[in-house]
This record gives sequence, C-alpha cells and structure tokens, in this order.
Amino acid sequence: MLFEEYKYFDYQFPDPQYLGAKHTHLSWIRQFVPDNVKTAFDAFAGSQSVGFLFKQMGFQTITNDFLNFNNQIGKALIENKSEKLNDNDIKTLFQKSPNKSDFTLMENVFTDVFFEREEAFFIDNFRANIPLLDNTYKQALAFTVMNRSLTRKITMGHFGHTQALVYAADPERIKRNRSLIRPIKDLFLELLPSYNNAVFDNKKDNKSVNLNILELLPNVSNIDLVYFDPPYCDSHADYQGFYHLLETYTEYWKNKEFVNGIKRYEPKRYSGFDKKGEAIVSFEKLFELSNEIPYWLISYNNRSYPNITEFEKIISKYRDVKIEYKTYQNGRGGKGSVAGSQEILFVCQPKKKHFIPTIKQKELEYEEL
Ligand SMILES: C[S@@+](CC[C@H](N)C(=O)[O-])C[C@H]1O[C@@H](n2cnc3c(N)ncnc32)[C@H](O)[C@@H]1O
Repeated sequence: MLFEEYKYFDYQFPDPQYLGAKHTHLSWIRQFVPDNVKTAFDAFAGSQSVGFLFKQMGFQTITNDFLNFNNQIGKALIENKSEKLNDNDIKTLFQKSPNKSDFTLMENVFTDVFFEREEAFFIDNFRANIPLLDNTYKQALAFTVMNRSLTRKITMGHFGHTQALVYAADPERIKRNRSLIRPIKDLFLELLPSYNNAVFDNKKDNKSVNLNILELLPNVSNIDLVYFDPPYCDSHADYQGFYHLLETYTEYWKNKEFVNGIKRYEPKRYSGFDKKGEAIVSFEKLFELSNEIPYWLISYNNRSYPNITEFEKIISKYRDVKIEYKTYQNGRGGKGSVAGSQEILFVCQPKKKHFIPTIKQKELEYEEL
C-alpha cells in the first residue's frame, strides 16, 4: 500500500452491534488481501465493517446486503463522500413532523413489545422527518444512527425476544446497562458524532447495493477481490428474526403481516444461504457467478454447515485455497462464537495452470538430447 493511502486509517469505524460483524477481525483479515487490488466487493456486508476497511485501503468499493437497513449503512459510510448531519438537519429530524399522520407503524405494531407508547410515537415522528432531509446520504445517516440507537436501547441488541420491557424495568439490568432506560433521542445524539466523523472521501466512486447476492453478481464486472461473509448456516443465520425491527423501520412496510410475539414481518426476504436444504446449491451458484473475480476471501466458522472439509471441496473446484484460522479468546467473536470456536478465512486465488507437455514437445526434447 502506498504511504499516501494510510491516511484513511485515521477514520474510525463506529462500533456496530451486529451478529457476526467482523470489526474485531479487520487487521487479521487485512493481512490476506492480495497486492494490486483496485476494486473490492463486500458481498454480504452486514454492518459494513469490511467494506469500510476496503474503502480505507483506497480501493474502489462495492458493498451489498439484501437487508435495506444494512444498505443504508453502506450508503452513509461507504458511498457517501462528504455529507454529514448538521444542527439544521437535527432540528428537522426532531421537529413535530408535518407528515406524522402517515407514520404510525411503530406505535401500532411495537408499543408494549419493544417500546413504551411515547418512544414508539417519537421514532415514528423521526421516521416521518427523514425524507425531508436534503439528500439520500443524509437520509442514510439518519437511518443508520437511529437504527444503531434502537439496538442500543433494546436488551441484548437484537429483536428476537420479547423481554425488552421486562428487562428495562429490572434494576439489576439497568445497573449493568443504563441505555435500557435512556431516551432514544439521547442515544441518537450521543452516537451521531462518531458516524459523522466516519464519513470520508477515498477519491473513488464507491457503491452500496441492496440485492440478493445471486441477483447482483451477474451485473458486476472488473472486480479484483470479493469478500464473502455469508450467514453461518446452522449457527445463528436468522438475521431477519434478530433484526426485523430495523428492516421494518427502514422499509416502513405497507404490505407485510407482523407475526409472533416479536412481530416479525412476513413474508421474509429470500436468502438462499440460511437453510440447510438450500445452502450447498446456493454456494455452487455463488462461486459459478464469481468465476470472473480473481481473488476471493471467505469468512467461515467451524460450527457452520457444510463443514469445513466439505466447504473446502466445493471451493477447490473453482480456486486454489488456503485455510487460515483465528481462535477466539472469549465469546465475543460474532455469530455462534463461543470460547474456543474459530474464525476461519478461506484465502482463494486463481488455480495455477499445470504445464503438461504434449507428445510433440516431448519428442522435440528427446531429439535435442
Ligand atoms: C455474517 S453477516 C455479515 C457480517 C459482516 N461481514 C459484518 O462485518 O458486519 C451475513 C450478512 O449476509 C446477509 N445476507 C444473507 N443472505 C443474503 C443474500 N442472499 N444476499 C445478500 N446478503 C445476504 C445478511 O443480511 C447478513 O447481514
């Protein structure tokens, strides 16, 4: 890397709270990025931590996730070169919204599930104001910081349980985590500077996309490196079960049902990578469609399906592959990570062509003897 490009490492990726986020593994992953990469692609981007690393490394970065709340982080921190939320924008977001009457979904669906009525009303009002910001990058920042505030507010940082209000009334829990009883507005204002400060221009046109990866791959070209961090099938793969509220807040669904105690939207988006019956076929498709991209890095976990040996066999049909291991010292490594479980990286490069001499060449060699 050129000395010039180290300057982007002064920007700090704001700590996410997302199952399987790789922000704690970035310097380890970075070692395996090959030289001479110009364009890099984070295909299952989640919190966008690896896309952010690529941007910091000066690459033209494409990033994608099939959930729109993750795409908003990509728009805010990867695609966005300079837009930040200023005092006027904050005023707009917190004003009594002229459009409030069209925005009642949070109050109607999630009051007494995750929020008291007053907080649900507050986030509906904020949501009604987001489209009033000047441009899509400011709007993406507003979504990103609000969604992050909501995960802070709710016990365990996900929405796959119905204990939020019970825990928020438990003095022991509050002692350990005061965010449970803090107003969402305060959380938002506290988090905002770290997001504003993470906006930078790496002098490339970067792009955040919101598609199923199998639909997107046929439409991308000239990429040097792709990073795959698929959901780990068999071990916490249900992102829509855990983070449905953030997707509902971002999409503000008009055409879904809200089911179960947690009020998850139904039908879900189709992944292809989160069910045992579909995973292998989807990986075959994924690799087939990625054949034009020379270098692949693939994150994996020793508790996933298919297991490492089987997965290596599938990859070997397409690439020469080396497996790198990083052992967790504690249970904070990400999805399904418990002490002793391992973060794995398949480091893949184009197959070396073996030179097999033809008979004619052999004859020539004999003649020379
Ligand atoms: C393990 S997480 C990625 C974590 C990410 N590397 C990070 O640092 O935060 C897997 C992501 O894949 C996304 N995903 C699942 N199926 C997908 C699909 N078919 N196409 C695109 N994204 C998908 C999920 O929404 C989830 O965010």
